[in-house]
Amino acid sequence: MPKEIHTRTVALTLNGKPRSLTAAPHWTLQRALRFAAGLTGTKHMCDRGVCGSCTVILDGRAVLSCQTLAVECEGKTVQTVEGIAAEPKWQPLIDAYCRHDAMQCGYCTPGFLVSAKALLDKNPNPTEAECREALAGNICICGTYPRHAEAILDAVREMAKEA
Ligand code: FES
Ligand code: FES
Repeated sequence: MPKEIHTRTVALTLNGKPRSLTAAPHWTLQRALRFAAGLTGTKHMCDRGVCGSCTVILDGRAVLSCQTLAVECEGKTVQTVEGIAAEPKWQPLIDAYCRHDAMQCGYCTPGFLVSAKALLDKNPNPTEAECREALAGNICICGTYPRHAEAILDAVREMAKEA
């Protein structure tokens, strides 16, 4: 007979809004985002902390949500790719990804976008090397690597025009 699992309520700020998520104590943040919050943009790929597909921004820092327990996020601020896409400020980044074809199957793309946004939060005018370094933890099986830095640098130029 399996033991009963007692769920917890985790109160956090998710994409700018207060939310309470019901999660089992062993649930990762990635799992809670998908199954308790209904947000499917944060991808589940390796589940081992090596691919970056599950990247979210937790209290201003890019983290791997498959390596973060949901219960650890009580009182914290989480931003997912959906929250970034909802902010008009970041539309130039998304447009640049499309212009540069920085995706093929697209499965890894949300993780790359979140890492790129976390970089630009801290460093709004990065060099190509800094872009590559910020994305070093993101793996793309389709091999789109050269296009990400190009897209980010193009987005920076577009954002500067709009400022
Ligand atoms: S699914 Fe989290 S790092 Fe790969
Ligand atoms: S675009 Fe397919 S895994 Fe990156």
